[in-house]
Amino acid sequence: RNYRSRTECRGDIQRLNSSFLAIYESLIPPEEEKEKQKQLMALLDKHVTKEWPGAKLFLYGSCANSFGFRKSDIDVCLAIGDADIDKAEILLKLADILKSDNLENVQALTRARVPIVKLMDPTTGISCDICVNNLLAVINTKLLRDYSKIDVRLRQLAFIIKHWAKSRGVNETYQGTLSSYAYVLMCIHFLQMRTPSILPCLQEMEATYKINVDNVECCYFDQVDKLEGFGSRNGESIAQLVWAFFNYWAHSHDYANDVISIRSGSLVSKRAKDWTRRIGNDRHLICIEDPFEVSHDLGRVVDKRSIRVLREEFERAAEIMQYDPNPCVKLFEPY
Ligand code: CTP
Ligand code: MG
Repeated sequence: RNYRSRTECRGDIQRLNSSFLAIYESLIPPEEEKEKQKQLMALLDKHVTKEWPGAKLFLYGSCANSFGFRKSDIDVCLAIGDADIDKAEILLKLADILKSDNLENVQALTRARVPIVKLMDPTTGISCDICVNNLLAVINTKLLRDYSKIDVRLRQLAFIIKHWAKSRGVNETYQGTLSSYAYVLMCIHFLQMRTPSILPCLQEMEATYKINVDNVECCYFDQVDKLEGFGSRNGESIAQLVWAFFNYWAHSHDYANDVISIRSGSLVSKRAKDWTRRIGNDRHLICIEDPFEVSHDLGRVVDKRSIRVLREEFERAAEIMQYDPNPCVKLFEPY
């Protein structure tokens, strides 16, 4: 630890800020990608409405929540009004229809946790997963996108954190680390908790958007254009926020007692949610409440081994941010 603490050197912070912003800019998808996505959606839509006239297609996930990197795959949800449908049957039918068109690698994965049809469109080069009636994902996609419009620092921070997580191999739910969705929720919560706060809590404000999906009442203030400048009383730069984010998860978060909750814009207690003990495979070693499915802990995939991996990575990142003369190299070093 030969280096002076970063907080002592202003010039240093400014240089680091430019580096983070350059990384952010390099990851943003170019406009042409949106056009190609639209083109593929139009093709899918044509097939779907021919077979199921009342059905609709929605984009969800990173291609629609504004937190997607360039060249990513797209996630599509096929909404078929009827709740009692057999999803597997629909997906097999859908795969058959799409195979007859000029689409490649069409495959129905009916036994996955979220059953899907996968495919690749050779015209646009885009790969795509289609699920059925996963409307909560469509709604939480809108919530994330709405948050991202309030203060650009959310998108910048989330891009840096996602890029870090992918580089360090801690964005793999099948290995017990966290989903991109979970990382974005962590970023939103973190910005809600700054003083002065950089993001409001939209679900605690007067609801201007209300919809009931799968018996979950989803409502929040979605007129976010009225919140322009909300975070401007807080002048923290992206470098300071990345530093504070890692510091929080490395040294301040109370893993034993606290749940982060963007729904309430504050911490809630594990005890209040009855997340204090292991139930089945849900261990609740790091607790991230889903904004709508409030009984869902996005940390439930984390086990005894992977919580150590995660916390060591947070500590490593905090250390680098504090002492390394050129953090951008080490922070994103492949694991
Ligand atoms: N999702 C969810 N519940 C989860 C995981 C995901 O509802 N436990 C939904 C969210 O709508 C999320 C989408 O599935 O936006 C895709 O999740 P994920 O792949 O984690 O995020 P992406 O934003 O697509 O990230 P990436 O860029 O890594 O693909
Ligand atoms: Mg995705």
